[in-house]
Amino acid sequence: MIKVKNLQFKYQGSNKYALNNINVELPRGKYIAILGHNGSGKSTFSKLISGLYKPTKGEIYIDDIMIKKSSLREIRNKIGIIFQNPDNQFIGSTVEDDLAFGLENANIPQHEMKKIIKDLLKMVGMEKFIDREPNTLSGGQKQRVAIASVLALNPEIIIFDEVTSMLDPKGKEDVLQIIKNIQQTREKTLISITHDMDEAIMADYCLIFSHGKVIAYGNPKELLNNKKILEESKIDSPFIYKISSRLKNIEPTYDINELLEKIWK
Ligand SMILES: Nc1ncnc2c1ncn2[C@@H]1O[C@H](COP(=O)(O)OP(=O)(O)O)[C@@H](O)[C@H]1O
Ligand SMILES: [Mg+2]
Repeated sequence: MIKVKNLQFKYQGSNKYALNNINVELPRGKYIAILGHNGSGKSTFSKLISGLYKPTKGEIYIDDIMIKKSSLREIRNKIGIIFQNPDNQFIGSTVEDDLAFGLENANIPQHEMKKIIKDLLKMVGMEKFIDREPNTLSGGQKQRVAIASVLALNPEIIIFDEVTSMLDPKGKEDVLQIIKNIQQTREKTLISITHDMDEAIMADYCLIFSHGKVIAYGNPKELLNNKKILEESKIDSPFIYKISSRLKNIEPTYDINELLEKIWK
């Protein structure tokens, strides 16, 4: 579980808080979508809970361990993060090296590595690219390798910070499918920062930021159906919901199949 208490954060040299008085508890093993306008504090929040930034004030606990200098190593083992920009996420000169680097750090014996790397690359559909240099891959392929590299470390919590936003539609679809697979097959806490309402609606919980504050937290279907919250956070309601709410004699729904059933009745 992630527990955040009275968290405040100010960037050096800035005179305003990027995050102001955040109090939230995110349960273990769930899929949590983080939404909010640009500059609302989503990335700053994700870097704080992964221990990349130090709180200006307040406390963050991961599984009851407070993030501080002496616990950083332990915390960093518990959380993996994948960033928006597919570049600059690689350490190795080939895809295989990149994954091996993480496994070496985790003290996995050499003779087990080959199979683990193969399995991980298979999982993200990149097994054919094992010998490629990361910088020769497409954006979507890079993100898939970045996900495999994070999975190699087997963290309890994985944060996806707008990982599809710089990808073309095909790359986006491939990466989203992998996130869905991880969600279904692994007992991990997944935190996905997204602008995609159709993705947010699939989450167990939704956390909404606006101007450095959490303005709502709860069931995505309830929150994304709340006009006041949508207006305050300047986010959009999901596409299927928008269509269905405009159709006569049809109850609004977020579910494409439900909508089709109602239309074809
Ligand atoms: N490196 C930085 N230095 C100074 N201010 C920053 C930096 N990164 C982000 N900010 C500011 O912090 C606020 C929150 O930004 P960010 O967490 O990146 O928002 P989001 O991810 O929701 O778009 C914004 O006002 C942004 O301008
Ligand atoms: Mg961001």
